[in-house]
Amino acid sequence: MDLEVLRQSALFAPLADDVFAAVTEGLTEVNLSRGSSVFREGDRGDELYFILAGKIKLGRTAVDGRENLLAILGPGDLFGEMALFDPAARNATATAVSETRLVALKHDDLRTAIETRPEVSTQLLRALAQRLRRTDESLADMVFSDVPGRVAKALLDLADRFGRPATDGILVAHELTQEELAQLVGASRETVNKALAEFVQRGWLRLEARAVVILDMQRLRQRSR
Ligand code: CMP
Repeated sequence: MDLEVLRQSALFAPLADDVFAAVTEGLTEVNLSRGSSVFREGDRGDELYFILAGKIKLGRTAVDGRENLLAILGPGDLFGEMALFDPAARNATATAVSETRLVALKHDDLRTAIETRPEVSTQLLRALAQRLRRTDESLADMVFSDVPGRVAKALLDLADRFGRPATDGILVAHELTQEELAQLVGASRETVNKALAEFVQRGWLRLEARAVVILDMQRLRQRSR
């Protein structure tokens, strides 16, 4: 198994070779196809996951069956660590949105790493702080921004993390259906489709299957504010 991505990540880079070897000795590789879940909201679990390749959506389901996406994670991201610090059931369902490769680490093994190298907990706290900052921002957006503004912001965020230069703009292969995009911004599919169609008509982006090409980053940024 190629553990180079893991070794180079902010979380594991501080570890000495022997500690890294001990922490990763018991890890297992998990390969998922689109639509397969790693775990479901409400499950109990003692493992956390590090994404080597692909994308994972974290979603919650309301009692009436509606779904909301908390985040889309990609290579280098970690999830499933909350129960390590605050033992409780999984607070979201983790599902692959593309072919995805993960490594699963036992909470106990990470605990050993934390005890051996305090820098590991600093990195974990940093990741949690970033997540809280992001969550606060999307909460404020839900209150203060309209749906097109939230769609623009979500696309810019996805572009930031997954965008690649294309001939006429930035290709964002987000792998999400329009329904999933709607769940990510907390709006109906119809309203999100309308916002996307308007952006296309204005020449700000082009739609592709589970992807967009952003043609006018500046206008999209202005719309997201
Ligand atoms: P856990 O509760 O073990 O399982 C679900 C995981 O989703 C959780 O740990 C976190 O790692 C992750 N998670 C929960 N909420 C968010 C969020 N708002 N942004 C990113 N990841 C999250």
